[in-house]
Amino acid sequence: GTVVLAYSGGLDTSCILVWLKEQGYDVIAYLANIGQNENFEEARKKAVALGARKVYIEDVSREFVEEFIWPAVQANALYEDRYLLGTSLARPCIARKQVEIAQKEGAQFVSHGATGKGNDQIRFELTCYALCPQIKIIAPWRMPEFYTRFRGRNDLMDYAKKHGIPVPVTPKSPWSMDENLMHISYEAGILENPKNQAPPGLYTKTKDPATSPDTPDILEIEFKKGVPVKVTNMKDGVTHQSSLELFVYLNEIAGKHGVGRIDIVENRFIGMKSRGIYETPAGTILYHAHLDIEAFTMDREVRKIKQGLALKFSELVYNGFWYSPECDYTRHCISKSQELVEGKVRLSALKGQVYILGRESPRSLYNEELVSMNVQGDYEPADATGFININSLRLKEYHRLQSKVAAK
Ligand code: ARG
Ligand code: SIN
Repeated sequence: GTVVLAYSGGLDTSCILVWLKEQGYDVIAYLANIGQNENFEEARKKAVALGARKVYIEDVSREFVEEFIWPAVQANALYEDRYLLGTSLARPCIARKQVEIAQKEGAQFVSHGATGKGNDQIRFELTCYALCPQIKIIAPWRMPEFYTRFRGRNDLMDYAKKHGIPVPVTPKSPWSMDENLMHISYEAGILENPKNQAPPGLYTKTKDPATSPDTPDILEIEFKKGVPVKVTNMKDGVTHQSSLELFVYLNEIAGKHGVGRIDIVENRFIGMKSRGIYETPAGTILYHAHLDIEAFTMDREVRKIKQGLALKFSELVYNGFWYSPECDYTRHCISKSQELVEGKVRLSALKGQVYILGRESPRSLYNEELVSMNVQGDYEPADATGFININSLRLKEYHRLQSKVAAK
């Protein structure tokens, strides 16, 4: 049969490609361009040399921004209070294109190089099954005939040498990386001991805040319906209005100032804790900017409900359920909450931090007169006495009971 393999050009998926051929499959290699730093033409040549019958290199970066990153920005999506979900959001985007190719090619199988211990296998496969229920998945790292043969990197290297697979000339970093337009993650290897600090040379998307510029960049970000539609740099007047270009520009500015680094231990869906280091430059700026414009324009009670939905949404995305009825419903509600979220936020990026400087909006619910300490506005201070009295009722009763119980 024919298999569409999600190919990265690295050692693992190169060995998988050759191994699949060895098992008798006709292999089509698929490499998603999702904004990672990569020599795509080199990868194409390599896949062909290894025996791929066809190679697809698909640019999904704009759809990644508009269909996956923007909903996450609208949600203020955050997993376990810290992780902006860079890898989690990319997987359904990559897998969606993969099944599209499989359908176009009449391929019965898809394959990937995710390990059997992680989240990515779940995200890939749930997406594939949801969008193409009859698809068959080959996950070599979960097949005994594969993982007993390749017990580590050395086995892969030996196999590569034997089968004419070009082995990386530069020694591989002692950790695993996953990169896309939104973030890069570093896990495993020497990072597996959670006590070990990341070596300074690890970071690739952001500068070290200790040595980043001493003067900030001041940005104005304009939102409509909860998504950024324009970014202006107040220093030099540079502006961007298109989704992908705007996001790439924010990555550049945030990266220059060391914005978006985290080092965390998180809970994988499969049940274990894992340590990860992430750089999410543009995503971090947008997270802060969107929180601010939302707080300025959204009703208090709507905001509370939406916050609960966002928590659910983040968990669904992390766990691989992008294409599920509940995630679809949640996205729909969150999107509804964003209809009036518009305006401009001014912020500065400096030394690894994002500082909000001010905001304005035609949809603001902020009433300067109402809140002012200097004017009365449409407000009767005497009314607050009754408001407090009624609210204190329950507290007084509770205290009376407590005293009574204590006295016994
Ligand atoms: N722990 C993060 C997540 O589950 C990042 C996973 C990185 N994936 C990888 N293949 N290195 O979303
Ligand atoms: C992997 O196991 O392939 C990477 C880590 C993860 O998916 O969580």
